[in-house]
Amino acid sequence: MTERYTAAVLTVSDKGARGERVDTGGPLVQEMLEAAGYAVVLTALVPDEQDLIEAKLIEFADVSGVALAVTTGGTGFAPRDVTPEATIAVSDKLVPGIPEAMRAESMKVTNKAMLSRLAAGIRGRTLIINLPGSPKAIRENLNIVLSVLDHGLDVLRGAPTDCGQPDPKRG
Ligand code: MTE
Repeated sequence: MTERYTAAVLTVSDKGARGERVDTGGPLVQEMLEAAGYAVVLTALVPDEQDLIEAKLIEFADVSGVALAVTTGGTGFAPRDVTPEATIAVSDKLVPGIPEAMRAESMKVTNKAMLSRLAAGIRGRTLIINLPGSPKAIRENLNIVLSVLDHGLDVLRGAPTDCGQPDPKRG
């Protein structure tokens, strides 16, 4: 990581917002991002309402200006799962490779990964990434992409990059 990037974590959960479930997903995402060197400066929890999710993502990107915004929850088939729709609605550009990689790798763990509707996009200079809701799926999916996010953020935010050099992690 060229610099220590800021991050925000948004938990999307009806039960969490009603106080009927302790949010373990958001704190796990925060812990993993901090272990990877990010400064998590904001966390929030909203119910599965598209306008509320969009408002938080816009606040994270336009007001707080974090480099990375990560959501957890609301990416499945339940009628109220609308996190990908909110993410797509507020994004200037989509980043399909990130959810493609998460689904492809997750298929090695569970066939149910094909049911995941995760999205990722760029709003301004903020990268927005969806993660599933369960701690197991959060850990597995975030670990798949975590090592390359800083390079994407370097490019997005104009830092010097080593694009074109051999990837040491791939030999
Ligand atoms: N991906 C990984 N790596 N591991 C998992 O256990 N669970 C799947 C999928 N992706 C899973 C996963 C399941 S069961 C569902 S229904 C979808 O993510 C959507 O998850 P969500 O409803 O918690 O957002």
